[in-house]
Amino acid sequence: MPEKDYTDGRQVAVGVEGRTGTRNTPSLMTLADAQETAFFWDGRRSALDQAVMDPLTNPVEMGLHDQAQLLERVQGDPAYAQAFKQAFPDAKPAISSEHMAAALAAYVRSLRSPESAYDRYAARHDKTQLSPRALLGLAIFQGKGHCAECHRLEGTPAMLTDHAYHRTGVGLDAITANLPALTEDVIKRSLQGGALGNRVATHADEAQLGRFNITQDPADIGLFRTPSLRDVSHTAPYMHDGSVATLDDAIDREVYYRSLQAGHPLQLTVEEREDLKSFLQAL
Ligand code: HEC
Repeated sequence: MPEKDYTDGRQVAVGVEGRTGTRNTPSLMTLADAQETAFFWDGRRSALDQAVMDPLTNPVEMGLHDQAQLLERVQGDPAYAQAFKQAFPDAKPAISSEHMAAALAAYVRSLRSPESAYDRYAARHDKTQLSPRALLGLAIFQGKGHCAECHRLEGTPAMLTDHAYHRTGVGLDAITANLPALTEDVIKRSLQGGALGNRVATHADEAQLGRFNITQDPADIGLFRTPSLRDVSHTAPYMHDGSVATLDDAIDREVYYRSLQAGHPLQLTVEEREDLKSFLQAL
């Protein structure tokens, strides 16, 4: 939803006939700026042209039966006939799923997040663009918080992701007891691409396996793509399953899990967490 910064503001997505999926809708507006090359929370698609088509036939998203039904719908609409002719004048057939994919991907790539206070600060080294609190927050983000190790500040504008996968522990407790059976099931099926997306959207337990669903490597159980934090204060709720309601809670979770990972507690005072939040609000 453009008015919600290209998210839906819900915990998990709601599709046709009110059917709910298993994933929090990520903002499409950060995708081009973050220079994403893998798509969906588990990175199951590496081509945007493929990623944009999956929701159309996902049973709990747009619910079309198959690409043939999609083509029939689009070909039957005179407004589309005109628009496709303009965009792809020499195409035969005039409307194909390849061209639909190319058009959708081009639109998504055109979406940009607005210039942020941090962008202005970074472009001109202009400290007046950030509040004193946000400046302290930046120091924690890069320093003892270690946030910038994954939410990287490189790039113009800053990408705020490392394009890699990590275990935060979010959602993992719920499936721990059932892990052997779950992973065995996934390996047996080893689905790919669109079919995998349908499975993930309709099986909450398997969805929590994250990157493992794609690689079937036990080391990848519970790993998810680092989301870009561009515009993050506008995209609540948080995490792949939308289980974290507010930015404060997201910061607390991240501080906690990073402590577990580092093997020693990351001590941030209430004040320092507020500073961190002020910085995240400037992204
Ligand atoms: C080891 C890499 C890593 C580090 C370090 C890290 N994060 Fe994250 N962060 C992630 C991943 C991966 C997710 C997504 C987790 C999920 O959905 O299960 C995430 C999610 C988030 C989210 C939610 C974003 C959204 O759109 O849902 C916020 C906010 C966040 N991190 C802030 C921080 C802050 C603040 C720090 C420093 C205290 C930090 N992160 C450190 C990898 C990291």
